[in-house]
Amino acid sequence: MTVLIKNGTVVSPTGIINADVLVDGERIAAVLTQGDTSLGASLESTADRVIDAAGKYVIPGGVDCHTHMEVPFGGTFASDTFETGTRAAAWGGTTTIIDFAVQKQGERVQDGLAAWHERARGECHIDYGFHQVIGGVDDDSLKAMDELVDEGVTSFKLFMAYPGVFYSDDGQILRAMQTASNNGSMIMMHAENGIAIDVLIAQALAEGKTDPKYHSLTRPWETEAEATNRAIMLARMTGAPLYIVHMSAKQAVKILQETRDQGWNVFGETCPQYLYLSLEDQLSQPGFEGAKWVCSTPLRSKAEHHQDELWKYLRTNDLSVVSTDHCPFCFKEQKELGLGDFSKIPNGIGTVEHRMDLIYQGVVDGQITLERWVELCATTPARMFGLYGRKGAIQPGFDADIVIYDPAGRTEIGFHKTHHMNMDHSAWEGVVIDGHVDTVISRGRVVVENNEYHGAKGHGQYLKRGLSQYLL
Ligand code: URP
Ligand code: ZN
Ligand code: ZN
Repeated sequence: MTVLIKNGTVVSPTGIINADVLVDGERIAAVLTQGDTSLGASLESTADRVIDAAGKYVIPGGVDCHTHMEVPFGGTFASDTFETGTRAAAWGGTTTIIDFAVQKQGERVQDGLAAWHERARGECHIDYGFHQVIGGVDDDSLKAMDELVDEGVTSFKLFMAYPGVFYSDDGQILRAMQTASNNGSMIMMHAENGIAIDVLIAQALAEGKTDPKYHSLTRPWETEAEATNRAIMLARMTGAPLYIVHMSAKQAVKILQETRDQGWNVFGETCPQYLYLSLEDQLSQPGFEGAKWVCSTPLRSKAEHHQDELWKYLRTNDLSVVSTDHCPFCFKEQKELGLGDFSKIPNGIGTVEHRMDLIYQGVVDGQITLERWVELCATTPARMFGLYGRKGAIQPGFDADIVIYDPAGRTEIGFHKTHHMNMDHSAWEGVVIDGHVDTVISRGRVVVENNEYHGAKGHGQYLKRGLSQYLL
């Protein structure tokens, strides 16, 4: 089956060209500059399908390198399965996810990974890979890190938060970083000082401060900045590359920026929620409503002016990736586990369907360029996590993961009846985007077209990843 996408504007990090894209089977066969009318005409007459993308952007499918489908958290499970979550991702122009397999203390890392394979196999609508959470650093799990690299799991997440759950102390972090430094993998860090946060939480609760907004007030920016600095210093001692996930505090990114300026291999990621949502406007809503926006790192105060700084760092590449940290929970019965005690609200927001739109709005608002949109949402995550060559670009030989995006369209995000994530609410209810995901192609298959879904579970394949292409 061949598909010719003609008359579109192909956007990549290195530029914007008017080009036709020929898909042959699951791969991109050719990118042809428009103007060669004889070649264009002959392709048009031989292609099985022709899609006219006039007036629209043709971009690589989104790569969301931070999702948590079905993850156990806070006494419940994230409400999207691999089936529902990858379908929602496809609706929103994301054609690859990298999810986090979890090893808890006392478990074998290999068993944790096997459980995630079991959950995802045959369920996904789009291609998927795994990072591995190391929740218990010991001799066995360090050895397992070497094994996993050979299996295409080339990045490992550690937590400086959540003592007693996923938390690693500094010695454990140092040892994992030494291992990563030797086997070429990437350490991903949840950088928050969990020990200090737990004291602040206990004190707040003792004072009767139980509302959702105290989730953010007990995780002040200093807890993120301190942990970021500590993680960086530990990484420097070992020479391990470091990727700090879901950054929300401008002070933490400033530390990252200074370290990058000194030539160290450290990277940062942020998420749409930190660019648009806040302590005042969302987390402080009356009653228990704010629970919808409890996530960690937390939404921060508008008064502290983080958002413009985060957009600035996205422009300067001190933040290199926008992921979602998609970790949805329903309000009823899940978020409600924290009624009367904010510390029991399961942490997480669902955004996997909306990232491409939300960051495109940054283009419309003049925060980033079109090229940077593609770089942040597709190309860099693919390169960062060893998928480039297949994902993240519109180039011959790459997988035909393609989004046709309509800048004249409009997307009204919200209301759980109109999105496709398995949630009874939306963290983005009422947000309107000046653009629209028009057509989505996943490995050559048209999965979204004319606001209709044509994908299927089982189409998504497991991606064995290589090492990061940002490593020295
Ligand atoms: O609130 C969040 N971020 N939930 C998911 C787990 C994590 O720390 O990424
Ligand atoms: Zn985290
Ligand atoms: Zn996460």
